[in-house]
Amino acid sequence: MFYTLEPHLGAIEKKLANETLNKNIISTFGNNVEKFEKSFSKFTKFNYTTAMNSGTSSLHLGLKVNNVCNNDLVIIPSYTFAATANAIIYCGAKPWFHDINSENMMLDLDQVASSLEKKTYKKGNFYYHYKTKQKITCIVPVMTFGYSLNISKLLAIKKKYNINILIDSAAGHFASYDKKKLGFYNFDCCYSFNGNKNISTSSGGAFCTNNFKRNLIVKKLSKVGRVSKYNYQLVGYNYKMNNLQASLGNGQLKNVKKFLRKKKEIFSFYSKSFENFIYIKKIILEDFNNIEGWLFAVKLNPKKLNKIINFLKTKKIFLSKFWYPLHKQPPYKNFLRENLNSTIKESGKILCLPSSTFLQKKDLRYIVDKVKDFF
Ligand SMILES: Cc1ncc(COP(=O)(O)O)c(C=O)c1O
Repeated sequence: MFYTLEPHLGAIEKKLANETLNKNIISTFGNNVEKFEKSFSKFTKFNYTTAMNSGTSSLHLGLKVNNVCNNDLVIIPSYTFAATANAIIYCGAKPWFHDINSENMMLDLDQVASSLEKKTYKKGNFYYHYKTKQKITCIVPVMTFGYSLNISKLLAIKKKYNINILIDSAAGHFASYDKKKLGFYNFDCCYSFNGNKNISTSSGGAFCTNNFKRNLIVKKLSKVGRVSKYNYQLVGYNYKMNNLQASLGNGQLKNVKKFLRKKKEIFSFYSKSFENFIYIKKIILEDFNNIEGWLFAVKLNPKKLNKIINFLKTKKIFLSKFWYPLHKQPPYKNFLRENLNSTIKESGKILCLPSSTFLQKKDLRYIVDKVKDFF
């Protein structure tokens, strides 16, 4: 049986988790979290990591320390997981939906630049929306399928508009741009370690930054605003990752080179297998040096999507449709939005193929054969 993505836990993760269980230190105390934070920073090349109980929590606090406040506007793609929008709403702010680039399925940075240019005005250090008068405090681009979006364009927008950028890299643990890890570029980043991600702590997340002060505040906020056991400096959140989750994370990071190698193998196998196959279109990457994403996604005729999912089910390959645009869904349908033509047109074409790092060549061959059999 094959699923889109399953956790890949080996002997070392089980050993570390068992040691933690045997020591009976399974709550938010213990050394594993700090160790995980240091190793994850080393891997992503950020100066600081704060490990939390979910990617959603890390987005929430990441937005707070990037000054997202009540009634502000935050630019995000409509094509994303709900958490990107929810974290904004938790801050009392509102998402401003933008389109995706139809090739890479990520925030259309040309449209973002154009709407900042044409639909906002500058007052003091900030940009405000002409019609709603709301302050635009942040942009949250999403690393869809775990790939990096165009960091050069993002840097140009940041420079021109001096706007905060928080990258939702929930599944982008392996993302890099121009051969450099994300920590190199100085944008704050959020990650998820949910069971379906490349690195998993069962559930979990992290906020990464190179900024000393923001790291300090997020650390404090994630630990109930404590300065000592029952003394508080801030109204904080109970968001800290626990010691048991971090033991799994420490094991996963010991295997990370193997995961990266396997991911590259899987993605190049699929890529080559569908090279001249006319029924399937591949996602066009921004950076062809970095093919190790999260999920290998392809585009199909949307009318065939349900049919192929049902067909593959009979072959024991259990897949589902991917993200459905947020602006079409009841909790988000009244928020400000730009033209979302590509979002509407492209989102219904996506099928993600099984991408777990334990898959063998014979498994991949079987999956490719069944997809081709369908057509
Ligand atoms: C783009 C994106 N952002 C945020 C999240 C939230 O992460 P978590 O499920 O760990 O809260 C996810 C989860 O899959 C995601 O895909």
